Amino acid sequence: MNYTLHQLRIFLTVAETLSITKAAEALHLTQPAVSIQLKKLQDQFDIPLTEVVGKKLFVTDFGKEIEKAAASIIEQALDIQNKTLAYKGQLFGKLKISIVSTGKYLMPYFLNGFFKEHPGITLEMDVTNKLQVIQSLEKNEVDFSLVSIPPTHLQLEYISLITNKLHLIAHGDFQLPKVINPTKLFDRAPMIYREYGSGTRLTMERFIQNQKVETNKKLELSSNEAVKQAVVAGLGLSIMSLIGLKNELQLGQLKVVPVKGLPIETMWSLIWLKGKKHSPTAASFLQYIRDNKDELLKEHFSWYMNY
Ligand code: PGA
Repeated sequence: MNYTLHQLRIFLTVAETLSITKAAEALHLTQPAVSIQLKKLQDQFDIPLTEVVGKKLFVTDFGKEIEKAAASIIEQALDIQNKTLAYKGQLFGKLKISIVSTGKYLMPYFLNGFFKEHPGITLEMDVTNKLQVIQSLEKNEVDFSLVSIPPTHLQLEYISLITNKLHLIAHGDFQLPKVINPTKLFDRAPMIYREYGSGTRLTMERFIQNQKVETNKKLELSSNEAVKQAVVAGLGLSIMSLIGLKNELQLGQLKVVPVKGLPIETMWSLIWLKGKKHSPTAASFLQYIRDNKDELLKEHFSWYMNY
């Protein structure tokens, strides 16, 4: 019995993803490193842990037993580490958050001070779109999610952070007509949309539908940053959250087009499933947000709040 925690962790990830490639990605290791460690673990058992059938990897029944035992060993090892650090007055653990695309301009400012206070805490933050963020929350894969359009089908608790303001954004040199008529404007310039699943896209679609105009959905890009770069490059206009545009607005690369009915305002909130039992790490983060939210917003987002 010479296996290591590292090997057990690798085996668990392989069993979870059923793929050496995906396990390597998830663990930030190379594929050969994963394969070598998996082989070293396998060498200690006479019975196969995994098998490959038709190029697909499966965990054998014996492997599933080892998977359960490995999960419990890793949990206990983490518990030991936790207890040691707690004994020294430090927190240890992983904070798991999923955030919508535009949340990346906001969330780091709420994390910075917290991580400085708790060097033993690590972060796993998935930056994606509304649909996927809500899925991760629903599957209870994360401690918190950051959204500005909360789902209505889940029982949630939340802390409101800051207003999300969605404006029509154009390239800095875009010639504004004297009288802004949204119908003509949307006709004239190509509109750039986010991908399916994005809350911003949904809001933009609803707004345009209400204007009773047809737009040419030629450009569909799968991240907020990609949309921004496309607008900067003059490819078209988009309805975007103002929060990620500070530098481009200051540099004159982008401009806000004043249109009746905009900005559309929603509220970025940190949400979690009602009744969720937070880990000490997650509970401590929540407290940090409660204690520091106003000051952090004032320090980093005064430009935005006063826009
Ligand atoms: P998204 O953001 O467009 O990245 O899905 C939606 C939201 O602000 O909640």
